[in-house]
Amino acid sequence: MIAADTAWRHAREHGLIPYGGTLLLIALGVLALLYLVKGPLGSARNNGPRAIERFTPFERAAHWTNAITFCLLAASGLAMAFGPGLLPLPDMIIDALKGLHSLAGPLFAVSLPLVLIIFLNDNVASRGDLRWLARGGAMLGGQQLPSHRFNPAEKIMFWWGMFFPGLISVGSGLALDGWIPELDDLRLAMPVVHLIHLAATLVMMAALAGHIYMGTLGVRGAYQAMRGGWVDEAWAREHHRLWHDEVMAGHIPARRSGAGPAGERVDDRAP
Ligand code: HEM
Repeated sequence: MIAADTAWRHAREHGLIPYGGTLLLIALGVLALLYLVKGPLGSARNNGPRAIERFTPFERAAHWTNAITFCLLAASGLAMAFGPGLLPLPDMIIDALKGLHSLAGPLFAVSLPLVLIIFLNDNVASRGDLRWLARGGAMLGGQQLPSHRFNPAEKIMFWWGMFFPGLISVGSGLALDGWIPELDDLRLAMPVVHLIHLAATLVMMAALAGHIYMGTLGVRGAYQAMRGGWVDEAWAREHHRLWHDEVMAGHIPARRSGAGPAGERVDDRAP
């Protein structure tokens, strides 16, 4: 048991903590470089008449619950993992961080599967995705290549930054917090679960840094879409051309919920 304990401590302190910290710093460095070199993508400001509903109130509520709880978990998790090495924290602060982490965890555990289910359908790979990726999507030439509701880069982020690491983080987090009592009987299981939790959450934080960048500074008008739910036609055409065309053709409704802002909507126009 002592050997197992030492091995766990060694893997954590000499493996995951330094390498995970480096991964996070690299992710932040790449995003800063992207902002300096490329700046925000797109010219459409998304402040014209709100014509197309991109996210319903239900989708936005689930997304923002998930986003807020994720930020609380990430901040408290990082402080617990890296704090002691960088700046020793008083026990009272560590206990408060643990409390916050255990409080936000179950909310994240409920909102994450909801978000994954809500957006699953539009994140399935489709024909043309490989071509989009091979041609650099939005990052190379000046113009963005046509994409459906979510572009192939968003789809990769969905599966490899949210879906798989998200479910592993939630499962291992619930186990660590005693929600799976059967695991408590396996004495060796907890250190392994702890390492899995740390690895999955580090991957998720590095990936989500990219998502948060694209959703705020990286793409003009994207944040407004998730805040208010509606986008104007120019934004939809520039960023998600195939989705825009389907809406214009009437194959996808321009309004999916009862609510909506005042202003022109595609569905309200005279035929
Ligand atoms: C502060 C944190 C966050 C911000 C600012 C943010 C911002 C955004 C924005 C602006 C969009 C709309 C993108 C578009 O219109 O194409 C979006 C979509 C989305 N977000 Fe977030 N987000 C955050 C955290 C999260 C978290 C923690 C998750 C889940 C782990 C998440 C999952 C999603 C999903 C699934 C979509 C739909 C698009 C896709 O599948 O890629 N977000 N987010």
